[in-house]
Amino acid sequence: MRLLFIGFGTVGQGLAELLVRKKELLSNTYGLNIKVVGIADKIKGSVTNPEGLNLSDALEKVSGGGNLLDLPGGKFEGEALDMIQQVEADVMLEATYTDIETGEPATSHIRKAVESGMHVVTTNKGPVALHYKDLKELAEEKGVRFLFEGTVMSGTPLINFIRENLAGCDIQEIKGILNGTTNYILTRMEEGISYEEALKKAQELGYAEAVPDADVLGWDALAKVTILAKYVFEADGKPFDYPCEGITGITAGSITEAKARNKRFKLIGKVWREGSIVKASVAPEEIDLTHPLASIMGATNAVTITTDALGDVTVVGPGAGKEATGYSMLVDLIAIGGQK
Ligand code: HSE
Repeated sequence: MRLLFIGFGTVGQGLAELLVRKKELLSNTYGLNIKVVGIADKIKGSVTNPEGLNLSDALEKVSGGGNLLDLPGGKFEGEALDMIQQVEADVMLEATYTDIETGEPATSHIRKAVESGMHVVTTNKGPVALHYKDLKELAEEKGVRFLFEGTVMSGTPLINFIRENLAGCDIQEIKGILNGTTNYILTRMEEGISYEEALKKAQELGYAEAVPDADVLGWDALAKVTILAKYVFEADGKPFDYPCEGITGITAGSITEAKARNKRFKLIGKVWREGSIVKASVAPEEIDLTHPLASIMGATNAVTITTDALGDVTVVGPGAGKEATGYSMLVDLIAIGGQK
């Protein structure tokens, strides 16, 4: 399986580390032999090699703040779109930064890859929150897969879980904690750490978006509920059609006061159906300490899916982070090319 990495930041590197570490397992258990034929990154440089780039070397170069240009192979002159058009590959991995207002440049990368006959795996929320239906239809038309497990709850199975394991259930509501950064910040603030310090740490740990305003203003959770609204309920809405409030109004004082009332603030995203209308929202809520969502701390996410046949099903797991998000791409790659 020939891969193109478009974006080699935290997520791309998280996947690359897993591909190096699990090379034998992928080959022996899933018959999956990976060759990375191109990496395009705006900051770290763009390289191609039809014989396969050495991922361990690539990781070593970028971990020291270096660039990729002196890897054996060739420096690629051109933009990511040119690489997608010119380099032959089986799967394009889209892990550039998320822009939920325009969905670019990721949406153009995805369209180009699909039109060139590549499968696409992405963790980028913009294209799915804005253009899910179009991209899915284009992929169907071209006979390729368009998978995006990592857009919601990082590698914790939610999208694939709904598709595979809740197939045939009628889902009425999905509700929970969908942003790792803000849950981490609220957790640390309760421990007495300042908002600024907690946000800085969330950035260091690779939880936050490139521009962390997207986390603290609730936009990241908003993109995720919009993805669920489109994927589960076939809604047409775009992210900013739904009401959204982040955590910037929550102070150390309000956290302490809530605790005194046996409550804890959580940023709650939800999407539900009222008759034929799909509704969604993101807002901080004071949750009773006895409620299961109150015990979800740090960058962990949790959502409860309300169904007809099973009642409530709750999924809990990592919601952000280098390896957890890298893993979402690995599981999608296995779904595309693994034999078992
Ligand atoms: N910034 C996101 C979060 C990353 O904190 O949840 C995962 O989507």
